[in-house]
Amino acid sequence: MKVLKRIIYILGGLVGLLLVAVVGLYFVANWRLNNPTASGRPVQIPTNAAVIARGEHLVHAVTDCAGCHGNNLEGKTLLDDPQLGYIAASNLTRGAGGVGASFTLEDWELAIRHGIGGDGRALGAMPSHHYAHLSDADLGAILAYIQSVPPVDHELPPRQLSFIATLLFGTVAYGDLPVTLIEHATVGGDAPPEGVTVEYGQYLVDIATCGDCHGADLRGRSPKEAETGPPAGPNLVAAATWSEQEFITTMRTRRTPSGRQLSEEMPSAYGGMTDAELQAIWRYLRHYFTQ
Ligand code: HEC
Ligand code: HEC
Repeated sequence: MKVLKRIIYILGGLVGLLLVAVVGLYFVANWRLNNPTASGRPVQIPTNAAVIARGEHLVHAVTDCAGCHGNNLEGKTLLDDPQLGYIAASNLTRGAGGVGASFTLEDWELAIRHGIGGDGRALGAMPSHHYAHLSDADLGAILAYIQSVPPVDHELPPRQLSFIATLLFGTVAYGDLPVTLIEHATVGGDAPPEGVTVEYGQYLVDIATCGDCHGADLRGRSPKEAETGPPAGPNLVAAATWSEQEFITTMRTRRTPSGRQLSEEMPSAYGGMTDAELQAIWRYLRHYFTQ
């Protein structure tokens, strides 16, 4: 009996230690998720009509901010899951519950190109690692447009990560968060000149976040990877074999050359890109997959 008692004490002690370790890890994870560091490089915001129109085009057809933040940028719940928690794409307007009224130029730049929210948290599900490629001029245009939209009153709850999600994203999956994927010192500068070129196509693929779903190497992501992230987009190698016209028609009509209808998971916003933009992307895909 004495031996049994001793074993029970030892086991109890081990379980206790494990609990202390897990709770300790939770606090470390939670701290990391709320204390990333990077310094930004705020941009000028010109406000003439042409720049605002350029910003509107980017937000609705290229960077597709509206796809997550809502058509009026009023914010939208993206995840509400008992196991993982709650995440909303913030209200970006100057209305009640929106960040627009209080954000400084620095706050905007840190959130969009560095992945750090207004309250200093490491943003998740916001593809800042792609927007880190935005030129100063295009970021300025996006901000000029965002500041010109009517305020929408729409309060959304703050981010609430479950115990498990905090542990996951604060430790093993921490390296997948946008803020840790960005080379902060290289952010900012000029885009390649606009045109139907491989270089400009690559810039568009970067800022349109194609790699978020189709994989950083554009060779597709698995359904397993999509479980805790964006939808699984297929390998784009097939699309690179289509003719320019077939590619443009697919992006516009959402029907592939073989007649298959694309699901809702592939954003429809890109259909609003100009011919020249889609041609540049097609050129880049061709070049990328045949080099
Ligand atoms: C794939 C969805 C998605 C897209 C596309 C997206 N966002 Fe976000 N964004 C989010 C989510 C989700 C959050 C909040 C993340 C969190 O709380 O961890 C966020 C947060 C932000 C924040 C921080 C606000 C705050 O509360 O601190 C800003 C600013 C922002 N986004 C601007 C933009 C802009 C501008 C674009 C387009 C260039 C854009 N977003 C595109 C999902 C997205
Ligand atoms: C939010 C996730 C997401 C983003 C961002 C995204 N895609 Fe997709 N895309 C998908 C998914 C999912 C499919 C598969 C849809 C289906 O087959 O029903 C798809 C399908 C496609 C197809 C059809 C491929 C084929 O062989 O059938 C092309 C072409 C394509 N995407 C190009 C792009 C380009 C170019 C970009 C960037 C401008 C982009 N996608 C951005 C999710 C995305």
